[in-house]
Amino acid sequence: MTVEPLPESNLQWCVARRPKGNVVAQDFRLTESQIPDCKDGQILLSTLYLNLAPVMRDYMSGKSVAGEAPLNIGDVIHGRGVAQVLVSKHPDFEVGDVVQGQLGWQLFKASSVTDGERISKIPNRGVSYGYSLGALGMTGFSAYFGFIERGLPKAGDTVVVSAAAGGVGSIVIQLAKIHGCRVIGITGGAEKCQAISQWCDDTIDYKNESVAERLAQLLPNGLDIYFDNVGGDTLSACLNHLAMGARVVLCGSISEYLLDQPYGVKNYTNLRRVNASMNGFFVYNHAADFATAEEQLAQWVTAGELQPVVDIAEGFDAMPTGLARLYSHKNIGTAYCRVREIQTA
Ligand SMILES: NC(=O)c1ccc[n+]([C@@H]2O[C@H](COP(=O)([O-])OP(=O)(O)OC[C@H]3O[C@@H](n4cnc5c(N)ncnc54)[C@H](OP(=O)(O)O)[C@@H]3O)[C@@H](O)[C@H]2O)c1
Repeated sequence: MTVEPLPESNLQWCVARRPKGNVVAQDFRLTESQIPDCKDGQILLSTLYLNLAPVMRDYMSGKSVAGEAPLNIGDVIHGRGVAQVLVSKHPDFEVGDVVQGQLGWQLFKASSVTDGERISKIPNRGVSYGYSLGALGMTGFSAYFGFIERGLPKAGDTVVVSAAAGGVGSIVIQLAKIHGCRVIGITGGAEKCQAISQWCDDTIDYKNESVAERLAQLLPNGLDIYFDNVGGDTLSACLNHLAMGARVVLCGSISEYLLDQPYGVKNYTNLRRVNASMNGFFVYNHAADFATAEEQLAQWVTAGELQPVVDIAEGFDAMPTGLARLYSHKNIGTAYCRVREIQTA
């Protein structure tokens, strides 16, 4: 195994100020420091890949989300990543192991392998280790537990997915196909509709079409599962087309994250007359079953049934613009940053 040369110092992206609207360059500060020492009981990690997720803007805003401590101005931004063990003074890890966990936006981390860091080894499956931030990591697990355990798909079900070209969405539409469902993907723009068309029976371009009108055309018998990544008026439109026993899965509400007040869906009583359910889920509540999900998702990936769609920001410098791309609708698939690559022989 050969690796790219290591950086000579640690770089960290820190919170410079609270974001207003989408994140901009002035919200971030890049700091340089010495590579940390590896003390007894610790491992020294060198970052290979860093995740980019909508929740990171919440971290920068000082909110406590996903069990992470609220960030103060000047703190290193929270973020999951994939890293290689450079030095090990911990009995469970060897130099060269590749792990994933809470690394923060930095090049090096001396980790004490605490529960909160959720550090775990990644098996070499012959696919990019970056997939551990996408189809084989939290993004894939969100799609898996949300769609399979909350959506309860059956062959022949009609499934509607919003942000269908995003990280979670691009996996959900493929899981729906694997389960023999009819799939309608909602996303913004012709390019994104084209990108997901191979897994969707129909697409709705919400930027250029009326979602309400298209749903009325496409759903004469209603929908069986709505997998909601966006909330707001798209959720409201889908609640007008529930089939008997429909399942609405609340994964995210990105259309509301920049609003001062939540949208406030008013037609939720539509659930009642069709015995429908609306369930939220939080991926970390399923931590006990991550290994099962990873095994199943990896089987689908290696069999070619699940094709990870990735949107890669190149280099650590690209982290701030990579995060901004999520809120400016630019990413197709799971967004992450390639900081340093391992080349396998
Ligand atoms: N419940 C959980 O445990 C859990 C876990 C992970 C993620 N999530 C949530 O799941 C959702 C998807 O997460 P992800 O990581 O896969 O991100 P993602 O879908 O890749 O997020 C970015 C996409 O969201 C869409 N978007 C952005 N602003 C929007 C707006 N104002 N209105 C409508 N769509 C907008 C854009 O796609 P278009 O171009 O199609 O608009 C954009 O490309 C997010 O809401 C996230 O917070 C929840």
